Amino acid sequence: MKTQKLGIIGLGHVGEHVLAYASQSELFGEIVTIDINEDKAFGEALDQRHATGLFTRNNINIYQGNYSNLKDADIIIICATYVYDDGRILADRQALIGDNASIIRDIMRQITEVTQEAILIFITNPADTVTFMAASEFNYPQERIMSTGCMLDTARFKQILGEHYGVDPKSVSAYMIGEHGYTAVPVLSKTTIAGIPYEDLPNHFPDVEHWDADTIQEKVVQSAYEVLNAKTGVTNAAIGQVAFELAKAVLLDEKAIFSVSTTFTEGEYGASAPLCFATPTVVGRNGWEKRFIVPLNDWEEAKMQTSIDSILANIELAKE
Ligand code: LAC
Repeated sequence: MKTQKLGIIGLGHVGEHVLAYASQSELFGEIVTIDINEDKAFGEALDQRHATGLFTRNNINIYQGNYSNLKDADIIIICATYVYDDGRILADRQALIGDNASIIRDIMRQITEVTQEAILIFITNPADTVTFMAASEFNYPQERIMSTGCMLDTARFKQILGEHYGVDPKSVSAYMIGEHGYTAVPVLSKTTIAGIPYEDLPNHFPDVEHWDADTIQEKVVQSAYEVLNAKTGVTNAAIGQVAFELAKAVLLDEKAIFSVSTTFTEGEYGASAPLCFATPTVVGRNGWEKRFIVPLNDWEEAKMQTSIDSILANIELAKE
């Protein structure tokens, strides 16, 4: 009887957190860590074994392995990234494509040699571009390839609105769509608290400043840099949690709706060419199942076009 198996590729600042969340979740019986720095992959696996050996209910087989160990993986989370000494990881996600494109192609070559069954979750930036490379350049089932996309942007959006209105962020219904990062779009026209549309909130929160869409987009985008600058060049806890929650939704066939990045080919939102972007998507055991092309207002349409243009430009840079 096979147990639930997770592969984690890239055990840096983000992969460490993904491993910790997955190990504590008791959802997996086997976790394989893979990194070009084999000592790092080994050390992170052994360290987590020490943590789970005594303090969690299930005894997980966590070990440093290689791609051959992924042939029966249920889920593979890819966090590998080129690391710049000057902390340029997040300051310019798009610039990473110059170095991460070859890393992602190498990873996908090795994954496709051993499996086409695993659900692939990409964290590596620029998330939309690397996901499009994986989906368009390799023979792998499209519905099994996604990135965390705007899940983290959405989490930040909900946290910022929740804090502003004094409610639990989980009680804010909201999504960010488009490109992960700079150009992500807050869909305020579909945002509600207690079922009340965002534009009507002043009637219910008369003492709360009513931010416009530009202000909110800037706050969400900049919140990433507040973390990055304070943590000397990384963000990891939130993105690790996001990736774990997405893996959980797959593993438990939750049919959860998350703003993940997947491949579009038919000109959605007026896109002039195939690409990946994030939109509310039903996620279950078979990967992504249904995407919602959310109707947008004029501001959101314009911002979505900016997002799409940014992703298409980055896809051009990624071409060999
Ligand atoms: C961030 C990274 C994951 O937005 O791109 O924190």
